[in-house]
Amino acid sequence: MNENLKIKKCTIAIDGYSACGKSTIAKQIAARFGWVYVDTGAMYRATTLHFLNEDVDLNSLQSVENALKHINISFRNVNGHNRTMLNGDDVEEQIRTIHVSNFVSEVSALSVVRSAMVAQQRRMGDGDLSIVMDGRDIGTVVFPDADIKFFITALPEVRAMRRFNELVEKGIPADLSTIASNLMHRDTIDSTREDSPLRQAEDAIVIDNSLLSNNEQMHIIYGHIENKCNIYGV
Ligand code: DC
Repeated sequence: MNENLKIKKCTIAIDGYSACGKSTIAKQIAARFGWVYVDTGAMYRATTLHFLNEDVDLNSLQSVENALKHINISFRNVNGHNRTMLNGDDVEEQIRTIHVSNFVSEVSALSVVRSAMVAQQRRMGDGDLSIVMDGRDIGTVVFPDADIKFFITALPEVRAMRRFNELVEKGIPADLSTIASNLMHRDTIDSTREDSPLRQAEDAIVIDNSLLSNNEQMHIIYGHIENKCNIYGV
């Protein structure tokens, strides 16, 4: 963090389609300003992993409610990297597999799951610390009064290629066409579900990063934040 920056408490909501680089953007904002970062997709993924491990019947409200009672999700910072913890276990790699990706949209469409996650996300934003949270409903549902809302988008083929490269870099086996169809499938479910579908908040700043380098997009994003959150060098 740059110690020369003076800031007020600021809440930043980042929403958008799958694999648009929301988490990468959110992590960079958090690192630059020393803010709390919450990856809400990881929370839905950890919940999905738990349901898969416990063979939870998604059609039984009682089973889902019961399973939710036994889930404790938190984040840990290990050497500057955000790690997702499920009931005390580090599940960061497991929640990124295509197996979890194939079920996560179905799980996150369940209202009972959403209300549990949203309640925890709001508690995370309650403190005095500035927070940057990324997901699908952050600007519309979790923090409708966020100081800044970004809606990130990119061409589907660019997104599929990025997710493919991400998995390969982590040594996770990947196939481009499987990834592309998973992204399309998730986008469709995420934006058509009844409860808090993915949509752009009316007051969101839209960023299409298909043709932008990381530096170019972060320059635009930092500009908005410094302006809105009264950040100034001293
Ligand atoms: O950001 P991600 O791809 O890791 O998210 C995984 C899934 O979780 C995504 O397909 C939809 C769901 N999700 C959601 O419904 N609401 C959020 N705030 C974040 C993620």
